[in-house]
Amino acid sequence: MTIDIPKPTPADKFSFGLWTVGWQARDPFGDATRAELDLVHSLEQLAGLGAYGVNFHDDDVIPFGADDATRDAIIARFKQGLADTGLVVTTATTNLFTHPVFKDGGLTSNSRDVRRFAIRKVMRNIDLAAELGARVYVAWGGREGAEFQGTKDVAAALDRYQEAFNVLGEYVVDQGYDLRFAIEPKPNEPRGDILLPTVGHALAFIETLDRPELVGVNPEIGHEEMAGLNAAAGYAQALWHGKLFHIDLNGQNGPRYDQDLRFGAGNVRGAFWVVDTLLAGGYDGPVHFDYKPIRPETETGVWVSAKACMDNYLILREKVKAYRADPEVQQALVDAALPELAQPTLADGEGWRELLEWELPDPEVLAAREVAMERLDQLALEHLYGVRG
Ligand code: GCO
Ligand code: MN
Ligand code: MN
Repeated sequence: MTIDIPKPTPADKFSFGLWTVGWQARDPFGDATRAELDLVHSLEQLAGLGAYGVNFHDDDVIPFGADDATRDAIIARFKQGLADTGLVVTTATTNLFTHPVFKDGGLTSNSRDVRRFAIRKVMRNIDLAAELGARVYVAWGGREGAEFQGTKDVAAALDRYQEAFNVLGEYVVDQGYDLRFAIEPKPNEPRGDILLPTVGHALAFIETLDRPELVGVNPEIGHEEMAGLNAAAGYAQALWHGKLFHIDLNGQNGPRYDQDLRFGAGNVRGAFWVVDTLLAGGYDGPVHFDYKPIRPETETGVWVSAKACMDNYLILREKVKAYRADPEVQQALVDAALPELAQPTLADGEGWRELLEWELPDPEVLAAREVAMERLDQLALEHLYGVRG
């Protein structure tokens, strides 16, 4: 049985971090296995595959410390590449992790000068992001953390993180930029423990900011799974809070190092539920892939894997739609009492007093009720395995 995979269109809003396909595959144990990719070449390849947009760190486009003339020339060429390919810049972010100046973090470094330097670097790239039309500014604090508990005062570091987001929020508002921040949680790597390690930590932190409406989350599937969490549940809660400003889709095989596999590899079943959650929750931002083509591949494998990210999303989207449209699934949802969960527990006008008047049912009868959940989940698996369509 073969299934036609739909072709990606701009309406699908597929976007890629330029650092993903551009990763030269340096790891802690080995040198680069791939040559540097020319930026415009990457734009052309991605556009040719059907992508809609790109996302970049300042240093992906402009080398750290480049002088103004070099910077201007690179930006002009990048803009021309965007115009020629029709790609848009959906998102931007700051590299606060590669240069040794950020060895103990950027916005939460113990060094005050480093923190001030980091905020200035973010402000400068926010200007560029706004100029290029990005609407989301991702904040991944990979170096914001510590290896040893005693070397970072978590409360003080959170004060400094809060201060940084407050001043950056003020900057965006004062400049009149149409830009929102999306915090990307990660439990560890490169630091032993990273601040704001999960979606839940980030959501709680956001509510303490001066402008919480400007800040949401950018959950990455692999990062939630590194923490042993169900990524789809994290996406669902972020949507529930109105905070899913951006997504980083990729693949991971359980709690271990950050694998950043192409989307759809790794935990396939988890990927199915992530797509289901995004569709059900009406997520309409960029469908962004943050993955790394594996180190043994040459450039050929880079583009194969980029295409596969989009194909896998489209395949899973078809499967999710077929699952939701299947009359047997709809019946199983009723049998598993999903529509009942959508009903408020108390009736209109009822409060705890009325609840006290309610005649209690026999708990043994309630305990013995059928739930049909194995059946429902098996139907999902059969759709995923391709024996139902
Ligand atoms: C990771 C992260 C990073 C960030 C990116 C944006 O894999 O640890 O995903 O890739 O998303 O650097 O700042
Ligand atoms: Mn990652
Ligand atoms: Mn990411």
